[in-house]
Amino acid sequence: MSTHAEDDVIAGAPVERSRASAPVAPNADHAVASRTLTFDNPRLRKDFAAQGAFLYLEDFLAPEVTAQLVHSARALLDEVNRNYLPGHKQGGSVSRHTIDRLAPFIAELYSSKELIGWLEQLSGDKLQVSPADDPHAYALYYYTRPGDHIGWHYDTSYYDGRRYTLLLGVIDESSCRLDYELHTRNPDVPDQPGSVQIPPGGLVFFDGDKLRHRITPAGPNEMRVSLTFEYVTDPNMRPWRRFISNMKDAIAYFGFRQVFRQMASRGKDRA
Ligand SMILES: [Fe+2]
Repeated sequence: MSTHAEDDVIAGAPVERSRASAPVAPNADHAVASRTLTFDNPRLRKDFAAQGAFLYLEDFLAPEVTAQLVHSARALLDEVNRNYLPGHKQGGSVSRHTIDRLAPFIAELYSSKELIGWLEQLSGDKLQVSPADDPHAYALYYYTRPGDHIGWHYDTSYYDGRRYTLLLGVIDESSCRLDYELHTRNPDVPDQPGSVQIPPGGLVFFDGDKLRHRITPAGPNEMRVSLTFEYVTDPNMRPWRRFISNMKDAIAYFGFRQVFRQMASRGKDRA
């Protein structure tokens, strides 16, 4: 037994203890409905449209859902894939494939009919979950080291239809902000800058091709974790765009092993 393992035993096996103390996973549909039924949804839909397909809610998730996500975010710290793209991005992420193995409640929340139905009301679009081999379908993003950030970008859709991003605040012990600019793709409306900090349980929902946004750099001893869900209106993707999208994911987010392992296993299935 290693010294480290002995320490674990003496300290009450923190890894096992953290698993044992996992809060009981709520029913995703019930938990979402318990919140969305209390909202003024026609008003939120108007706000979403008026802001060029963007909405921020400071308090969205039911507390038991937030607690579950916080637990998962901490439990998955050892699974984080770190990336550094000079001038664009520095941070960590955990892809859907790892989430499927180790935090299945997140997958349930992602595919919750109540959640998707509510997002459809907001957007006015029929939404679908992303294909099974898209590592962005749901992912956790970690900002845990000084300078972790993402520079200005759009969540460009490589799909034939629109791509919507839902960001959920999970842990925010940081000075990081989501800075954004509304209406940049609409020549008839002046650009409108904004900035929010997303507290645990908070929500941002937007059309990825319309919202220019960034996450500002983390400072020392800070930690921020957000959960991102991606929904599409047409899951078809042309092969060339699929290639670009996979390369981007491998380099900027999840690593080649995560992204291409999935493709390889699909290839075997076909063979
Ligand atoms: Fe983004």
